Amino acid sequence: MTQYLADSTRHPHASDQPVAATDWWRDAVIYQVYPRSFADGNGDGMGDIPGVRERLPYLRDLGVDAVWLSPFYASPQADAGYDVADYRAIDPMFGTLHDADGLIRDAHRLGLRIIVDLVPNHSSDQHEWFKQALREGPGSPLRQRYHFRPGKGGNGELPPNDWESVFGGPAWTRAADGEWFLHLFAPEQPDFNWEHPAVQDEFRSILRFWLDMGVDGFRIDVAHGLVKADGLPDIGAHEQLKLLGNDVLPFFDQDGVHEVYRSWRRILDEYHGERIAVAEAWTPTVERTANYVRSDELHQAFNFQYLGTKWDAAELREVIDRSLDAMRPVAAPTTWVLSNHDVVRHATRLSADQRTYDVRRARAASLLMLALPGSAYVYQGEELGLPEVTDLPDEVRQDPAFFRAAGQDGFRDGCRVPIPWTAEGGSYGFGSGGSWLPQPASWASLSVEAQTGDPASTLELYRAALRLRRELPGLGAGESVHWQDAPQGVLVFRRPGFVCTVNTTGAPVTLPAPGTVLLSSAPVEVTADGAVLPSDTTVWWAV
Ligand code: NOJ
Repeated sequence: MTQYLADSTRHPHASDQPVAATDWWRDAVIYQVYPRSFADGNGDGMGDIPGVRERLPYLRDLGVDAVWLSPFYASPQADAGYDVADYRAIDPMFGTLHDADGLIRDAHRLGLRIIVDLVPNHSSDQHEWFKQALREGPGSPLRQRYHFRPGKGGNGELPPNDWESVFGGPAWTRAADGEWFLHLFAPEQPDFNWEHPAVQDEFRSILRFWLDMGVDGFRIDVAHGLVKADGLPDIGAHEQLKLLGNDVLPFFDQDGVHEVYRSWRRILDEYHGERIAVAEAWTPTVERTANYVRSDELHQAFNFQYLGTKWDAAELREVIDRSLDAMRPVAAPTTWVLSNHDVVRHATRLSADQRTYDVRRARAASLLMLALPGSAYVYQGEELGLPEVTDLPDEVRQDPAFFRAAGQDGFRDGCRVPIPWTAEGGSYGFGSGGSWLPQPASWASLSVEAQTGDPASTLELYRAALRLRRELPGLGAGESVHWQDAPQGVLVFRRPGFVCTVNTTGAPVTLPAPGTVLLSSAPVEVTADGAVLPSDTTVWWAV
């Protein structure tokens, strides 16, 4: 390991020379790789780092700026790797540290940046610290790195407070010695006690470990959860799932988290090459999200309010304005995201009929997102127009939420199905050994191979859009859009040298053509009388 670290100082950003600020992250398109499901290099049915390495040229050609990888650390996989047993080791199912080093180097050679996932709110119950905490028993200082408490009730048989896990059921589990420990997610994911200096030191050291390896940034898991309100007070309400993201709770979005990020920003700024961090912070409002990206904190935060907006022109316009307005005072770029590994893929989610999917709307939504100023996140497979897989048999499901919450749909497996690369073959080119979740037969025609070179395909639409975003540098830059008058259900906004029109209605709409068509999500007809925007279509115009 020591030798490995010494070697890592040769990473492309290591230099004694000051590096000019590029602000690369302000308008970056960042592609999320879900390592289990991207590409399987060793044929065991599970995606891995060698698989990602092989496919990096695909990502370069797609035109993204950076790649964020969901966790690949040593983990018992109780929550698909968001339960980390060793933050400085790669799980053998994904490869080795040597593979990770190779991935970072290959990516840099191709001009791609690498962002890794950091999971600071909780560890795995197989993390050495948690095993020690259990072994040492009540009263031990080693327990204080987690939240252990005696229970309530005559014999301590009731949880210490009324908090519910995000995955359902109580947020507390009783250890064999009678004390309870807190886990906002699965019982296999005990929450760290962020008041403890050892926890703070450990994560600063983990940050440095990966920065020394050459990563360009971190996606911070549950960034809003680290600090819990003093005394762990009851919430006094049931069905707390409904409150998540809508309220400041004693375990989410506490003001104390910001001190943690200030200390991390100082570390990031010590390194050359503009290393960044993006917060996964589900807060009640975009204004509270802006607190995470003040100039001395993190660089970006996911815009979940945008992700949660319906395909409705008025609502979209409002969330776009509100997002841009909220970020302006802190001078942070707004981010835009439609899909990730936790939500229903937007080809299905935005469909008027939730039982089916609507690639036409998905394409229109994607072109709208990519026309907005700021940084955009693309989740693997959305560039293929993949739908949510809604008919997975219960036996293959792995999402812990599915097992813990009776009646919950277990949606998160449906967006995690391995992506199709080729039209033929057992797992459509994902790997030679099948795929850990079954892929629908209809995905042959959605594969990278089937779509490449077909100008009508979603893949070529993304490629063209990302190429234009690079060629028209004003597109991702700036901090506002200028709305133009438009009929109900239609959005028209102007950017420098550019107009975007979005028809969210189910019927064609005729408008004066604002310029010449650069790109459109469906064929658009321009005549002397104007432009006929088909239903559910976004058009980019040069003006
Ligand atoms: C957010 C991650 O995106 C999700 O997949 C995970 O289950 C939770 N955080 C807990 O780590």
